[in-house]
Amino acid sequence: INGAVRPRPQPWWQLERPRLLQLAQTGTPRYVYHLPTVRERARQLKELAAVDRRYYAIKANPHPAILNALAEEGFGLECVSLAEIRHVFAVVPGIDPARVLFTPSFAPREEYEQALALGVTVTVDNVELLRNWPETFRGRSLWLRIDLGHGDGHHEKVNTGGKEAKFGLSAQRVDEFVQEARGLGVVITGLHAHLGSGVENMGHWRQMCDELAGFARRFGTVATLDIGGGLPIPYAPEDEPFDLEAWAASLAEVRAVHPAFGLVIEPGRFLVAEAGVLLARATQVVEKDGVVRVGLDAGMNALVRPAMYDAWHDIVNLQRIDAPADGQFDVVGPICESSDLFGKRRRLPRDTAAGDVMLVADAGAYGHSMASRYNLRELPPEDVIDGAMA
Ligand code: LLP
Repeated sequence: INGAVRPRPQPWWQLERPRLLQLAQTGTPRYVYHLPTVRERARQLKELAAVDRRYYAIKANPHPAILNALAEEGFGLECVSLAEIRHVFAVVPGIDPARVLFTPSFAPREEYEQALALGVTVTVDNVELLRNWPETFRGRSLWLRIDLGHGDGHHEKVNTGGKEAKFGLSAQRVDEFVQEARGLGVVITGLHAHLGSGVENMGHWRQMCDELAGFARRFGTVATLDIGGGLPIPYAPEDEPFDLEAWAASLAEVRAVHPAFGLVIEPGRFLVAEAGVLLARATQVVEKDGVVRVGLDAGMNALVRPAMYDAWHDIVNLQRIDAPADGQFDVVGPICESSDLFGKRRRLPRDTAAGDVMLVADAGAYGHSMASRYNLRELPPEDVIDGAMA
């Protein structure tokens, strides 16, 4: 309103600083997740009357405590591999298969067959699947992912729409798909699109809903429109928090035009990014040619987003949180790659020294789930904080 930046609530990790410093004593690097924040985000999405059903894209963070918290909040779980499906059934006891959605890309035939046998909702995204593996799909009720021909997202590498993206049935081939499906007795009950991640354009989902509704008429059997995930979070101080109310209003408008369909979303990042931090310890502080670098014991093996997408994550010296940020450092990791850089020319306390506990913020989504053992470094352990400090 009036262009004023809305005040941001204090992040949970400032209030939990004593507990985080304690956890860091048990070893670094490590991820810590704050379940109350996950639940708060879940409740914000549950309040949106324009949305009928919500799935959580577990690829963002499949930690069992997070899956259970979101399942308890009524979320379904969206999986992209048979391993993710099996993980869900193993760690969320008694979950109804009807609440599990399988949205694979170029998966082997066995994964579709086993997912169907388990009774989860399966999304297909090309004609060739039906043509080449007719016995797998004959007589099934399925969802169909369509490439609406345009994509978006915080980085080119997370744009999943348009000719250069591998995802979804081309809009040009929808009629051909309808023919093929009829021949096999396949019934398409849902249409799906996910065109990018970290999308700032508020009109993105509204447009998707409108376009999917247009395609739905060609099937006559579609009850559900799934407009994917992609909700952004404010990583940098100048990023505005996503305006959920404006978003809900735009979805309510488009729903009023297409009242026949149930609307589904499947966010990942929005639910968990802010709920996770990466704790690391400073290893060395080194000056070279006027650049001062602080090294952490966590690198791109632990959190690949900065290296992979030039993603910006806030970095603070948790040990010296009250000291002024009067020094400038490049924050690097211990991996033998130049891209092992968490932040360039960051403001941190001048006295930042080896042994300090450092915190990389907003690392709950696509952090641990994308971590690797590159350079044979161990995967960071994960801790969960549930409830206020005793
Ligand atoms: N649905 C589908 C079919 C997806 O492929 C994805 C994410 C989502 C939902 C959830 O998207 P979200 O709400 O989290 O944006 N590793 C990248 C993000 C890749 C997203 C892949 N697909 C990153 O760290 O930014």
